[in-house]
Amino acid sequence: MSEPVKRVRKRHFQQARENGVPIVGLTSYDALSAGIFDAAGVDFLLVGDSAGQAVFGYDSTVPVTVEELIPLTRAVALAAKRAFVIADLPFGSYELGPDHALQTAIRFMKETHAQAVKLEGGVRSAEKIRRIVDAGIPVMAHIGYTPQSEHQIGGHVVQGRGDGADQLLADAHAVEDAGAFAVVLEMVPSDAAQRVTEAVSIPTISVGAGPHCSGQLMVWTDFAGLQGGRYPRFVKKYADLRGVLTDAVTAFRRDVESGAYPAAEHEYE
Ligand code: KIV
Repeated sequence: MSEPVKRVRKRHFQQARENGVPIVGLTSYDALSAGIFDAAGVDFLLVGDSAGQAVFGYDSTVPVTVEELIPLTRAVALAAKRAFVIADLPFGSYELGPDHALQTAIRFMKETHAQAVKLEGGVRSAEKIRRIVDAGIPVMAHIGYTPQSEHQIGGHVVQGRGDGADQLLADAHAVEDAGAFAVVLEMVPSDAAQRVTEAVSIPTISVGAGPHCSGQLMVWTDFAGLQGGRYPRFVKKYADLRGVLTDAVTAFRRDVESGAYPAAEHEYE
């Protein structure tokens, strides 16, 4: 997105798409990381329900609640001075219908200072998106692999392959028609993502959907190498924070054990 933008707004997403300027997003779950990413020029911060794994230690996004996400979203929104902050609606907070979705979206907008909400689902979520947008709340849609449906899908499976490409297209059209200002495409083949990007006029945001989308989003604990274990194929590790912190903690432990910390300069007189 263009650098001179003082505060990223919904309209800048569309402008970026039309001008061919890539949109850059990261997840964030706390004020410190949000402040760093914001100052570094990230266009949007998603307070994702991936906090389920990154913050709360669950094995999926499914258990995360509204009560858990609200304080995290508020911390991120208060720290961000330029980036557009998007609140993720967790599983169970919008499934009962458009009224349910609107109630939850209003709660996030009033209690967190976020500027938009995100929810999962294409055709199946279109009416909910329409209801939220009609109330004046921008919605980012999320199609392709939708982690809240992990158990229905049967694990972390790439979506939009073969015949699945038609469903992906139908989902993209449905969320665009419902008024979403942008749509996340998660874990879909690059050619299917390209087809969607050419077929709709709203920006497409890739999470493992290749280079033909209008922007890229990564989970921050992935991109910064904070997580242990296996990373999805689409993740590029830009740092090894896990290694850096492990070295720092080991050095601290050794210093305390040997008496090297605290030294005279760390003492009060
Ligand atoms: O919660 C999250 O981090 C997400 C992104 C992966 C799109 O929904």
